[in-house]
Parts: sequence; C-alpha cells; structure tokens
Amino acid sequence: MPTNRFYVTTPIYYVNDRPHVGHAYTTVIADALSRYHRLRGDEVRFVTGTDENSQKNVEAMEKAGETDLQAYLDRMAGAWKSTWSEIGITFDDFIRTTEPRHLAGVERFWKAVAASGDLEKRTYQSMYCVGCEGFKTPSEMNEDGRCPLHPNKELTKVQEENWFFKLTNYVEPLRAYIREHEDFVQPASRRNEILGYLDAVEKEGLDVSVSREKKKLSVGIPVPGDEDQRIYVWFDALLNYMTAVGYGTDEALFQKFWPVNLQLVGKDILKFHCALWPAMIMSAAKQDALLRNEDGSPKLPQHVFAHGFYTLDGMKISKSLGNAIPPSEAAKDVGMDAVRYYLLREVQLGEDGDFSFARLKERYQADLGNTLGNLVQRVVAMSRKYFDGKVPTLDAVTAQSLSDVGVNSWGGSVAIHHLASEIAAAYDAFNTFGVVQRVWGTGESASNLIAANKLIEETQPFKLAKTDLEATGRVLYALLESIRWYAWFVAPIMPETANKMLVALGLDATQEFAKGWDAALTWGQLEPGSLLPEPSPLFPRLEEKTEV
Ligand code: MSP
Repeated sequence: MPTNRFYVTTPIYYVNDRPHVGHAYTTVIADALSRYHRLRGDEVRFVTGTDENSQKNVEAMEKAGETDLQAYLDRMAGAWKSTWSEIGITFDDFIRTTEPRHLAGVERFWKAVAASGDLEKRTYQSMYCVGCEGFKTPSEMNEDGRCPLHPNKELTKVQEENWFFKLTNYVEPLRAYIREHEDFVQPASRRNEILGYLDAVEKEGLDVSVSREKKKLSVGIPVPGDEDQRIYVWFDALLNYMTAVGYGTDEALFQKFWPVNLQLVGKDILKFHCALWPAMIMSAAKQDALLRNEDGSPKLPQHVFAHGFYTLDGMKISKSLGNAIPPSEAAKDVGMDAVRYYLLREVQLGEDGDFSFARLKERYQADLGNTLGNLVQRVVAMSRKYFDGKVPTLDAVTAQSLSDVGVNSWGGSVAIHHLASEIAAAYDAFNTFGVVQRVWGTGESASNLIAANKLIEETQPFKLAKTDLEATGRVLYALLESIRWYAWFVAPIMPETANKMLVALGLDATQEFAKGWDAALTWGQLEPGSLLPEPSPLFPRLEEKTEV
C-alpha cells in the first residue's frame, strides 16, 4: 500500500511566557493526529515552534530584567520544548523564526511577492495592539478605544511609511478557493466569518501593512532591498510553515511536504491563516514555480481548523491573572494522559470550553479509572484466575466462536470492526472528540467500553466459571481481545495508557504498534494460552496516590 504523507502544524508560540493549558490544547490535538497517522504507517511531519521576532518577546525580556535577547529567546524556546516533552508531544521539527533556515525562506518569499507587484510603499496611520501584534480599526476597538483582547494596554498610534501587501487583489481568488474547497476553513461554521472579513477587505480597501520602520523596532527580519524597514512579524511568522519543510533551503523536502494537510489554529488567529496567508501564497506563486501545482494553480494549505478557547476554572487564562499554569502542573496528580484526554474530551473541537480541576478529577475517576482501568483490571484478573494465569485456551474456543459471544448488548467482533472504521473516520476528519465519544460508548456502535463493562455484568464470568468454563473463556477472550483494540483506538490520545494496556495483555507494545493500524485490527490476534502478567491499576485512585 502506498504511504500517505501527513503534514500538520500548530501556530508558533510567542515566547513572552511559558506554555499554559490553552497552548497545550492546540498542540495535543496536533500530536494525537500525528500519532494516529504514524500508526497508520503514513509519513508524518508535525511541526511546532516559537515566534521570536515579536516586540512582545522584547517587552517580556525587559520586564524580567534581562538585556541579552538571544539568551532570553534560547532559554524560552528550550522551556517550550521541554514542556511539550512533559506531556508527550512528538513533534518532528521545532522551528524558531530566528533560525537562518527561516530567514532564507522569508527572503525568497518576500522577493517573489515584490516581483508580483503586490507590495507598495504607503504612508499610513493607525492604532496598533502589541498584544495582538495587529492593527485595529475603530470597529475592532472597545468603547474606550482599547483592544477587547488586551484591555489592560493602551493601543499605540503608528504613523509611518510601510510596505503594504495588496490583500485587496486577492479577495475574489480567495472567495473562489473557499467556495471550491468547502473543507478548507473548518469547522464549517467559521467560513462565514472569513467570507465576511473578505467583504470588509473589499469594501474598506483593507490592504495589510507588512513592514515597520526599522528604527521603531528592536527585532524583525530586514526587508530585502530596503535597509530602513523590517518585515511585519505576522508576515514572517506565517512563513514558518514553509521554511520548516525546506522552503528556501531544501527543495526536495519542500516538494514532499508542501502543501500542508492541516493547520491547527485558535479561533483568534483564523483570519491571518485563511485570508492573509493564502493570499500571500497566491501572490508569491506567480513568480515562484515551487509554489505552483502542475496546472499552474498555487499550492495552498488543504485545511485550516480553528478550535475554541479554554478558560481555567471559568476565568480567562492570562499571565496577568496568574493562572497561566503549565500543563505539567495540571498533570501533577492525574498524569499527562488524563490531561490530554480531558482537553480532547471536554468540548467538541471548535467550541469553547472550561478547564476545571474538579472536572478533570471527576473524569479521571469515572471515565478513566472506573470505565477503562477497572475493565482491564477485572478482565485480566478473572482470566488469570480461571485460566491458570493465561489468556483462555479451551478447545472449543475456536476463532469462530470467539467472534460472537452471544450476548445482546455486546456486538462482538463484527461490531468492533465497525467501531474501528468509525474511529478511523473520526481521526481522518480531525474529530478527536468524536473518537473519544465512540470508544467510551456514546456513539452508535456497540462493542465500546460501556458495552464491554456491561458484558461483564450480564454474563457474570465470576459465577459462570463455576458452571460453564467454556462460555467463561469465550467471554473473557472477547474482552481481552477488545482491550487490545481499545489500546489502538486510544493510543494517539493516551500513549502511556495504551502501552500499559498492551503490557497488561502480556504483549510487547513496540512490536504490537509496529504492525500498523489495518494489519493489527483484525479479530483474534491475541494468542489463546499466552501468559498474562499480574495487573496493576492503570489509573490509581487519587486519594491513595497523594498519600504515598
Ligand atoms: N505567534 C502567534 C501565532 C503565529 S502562527 C504563524 C500567536 N501566538 S500565541 O502564543 O499568542 O498563541 C498561539 C495559539 O495558542 C492560539 O492561536 C491558540 O491556538 C492557542 N491558545 C492560546 N490561548 C489559548 C486558550 N486559552 N485556549 C485555547 N487555545 C489557546 O498568536
């Protein structure tokens, strides 16, 4: 089977602070989708990184009483990387916009846009929000003239001569691309926001200032051929998605991974990603053949998905409120898998949600401990007890009889095959919330975790074992084999847990995952008669854990 490639990105983060659970949300979604595609055998490129040419970072450094910007940026980029590893983020590349490889690509791109005639120097006056790194029109301000997202800071008046990018030249092509590619802007509910913005761009002639006077900034990539100007941080930052896969430095790599399959962003930065960014590419593609398809059309991102925002215990997450806690702290008692699960389970992708510690603990006890952990513990323990420490081996337990244990609410192997394809479809549609729903049993298919627990109640193997060992063996085998499948289903979201589930079945997790999704998910691969190690709880009860 030919391998597909999957290139997914997160926004690159400002390093004016350490990551908090809101940042973790975007990154965990990207990680789960990357892990899923790796399990399928696809060639995956997952890129995250840091947005370093921003005045925000300089302000934060000064506030911290430091003067060496490079040292500050290095330290903060390191802090982001290590936070990501603490919650199991498996990025393939981490791009920093101060790296030489990035500068090379930005320069090439700027020149292409300039050659297309889409850059023009104009004198300009507007209000600027350093918090957003963006200009604000009067309709985008609060009544008191401040930015609604950063009401603590006054807007700065900017009056200078800048390079402008003629976004207005691309309104019609953008509309056409959005019309022809219904799944470019996701969720669908966000498409109108972009179309509305394009109407405003057209009506109000909203071209975008893409440079600033050098003397007014202490950071920023120089504008090629104009010593007095630096490139606007957003123009530079968006290009990370290309420079990380070799634009300007490694043509073969770029050809392989561009266009990007999926760009995950928060709803706050959708406009930059679905209007400015594709317009920039349309413009550069007129000059740069690397950016064109064979039919001459520009190579644009395939999907941009905007997720909602998390609050923390009902409050906006912000540095100034002091609640921008790192994800590792949220994981202190419950572990990283529970935090990853929680972030993806609590809200449908696209909606806003609240990260509440009480709710996290509730889900840990109920969904993880009681529903998943107990299932594994009980099934393994019973099988060990009635089948001599092993996966049941009874002569009568043939592959056929294993497929259907004949209990109403349990769909058996047919249903679990169906469930597996529903789960794959949900992952393919970036619907990690849907994956969790289906595994835990709020979806339509049978043979999910709820049904598995019900099967134990209905068949009562602990009683059945006294009268009919063969029937007991069939039930327990079906459950053990299902646990193997559940490990695959949840592995992208809860990688440590999935490994533990396989170990509980006496399997080598690395070997099992090397099989690949399709090869592994056929019924009956767990070997009857193989040894089951003594189980230990997957999700220890919190009281016990904190006492230790
Ligand atoms: N540097 C720009 C992005 C440039 S991409 C070319 C930026 N950085 S940021 O650090 O301020 O935020 C980046 C992203 O973090 C947001 O778009 C969003 O994806 C995520 N989140 C930040 N706070 C969040 C929440 N409270 N909840 C969910 N996501 C949040 O913007």
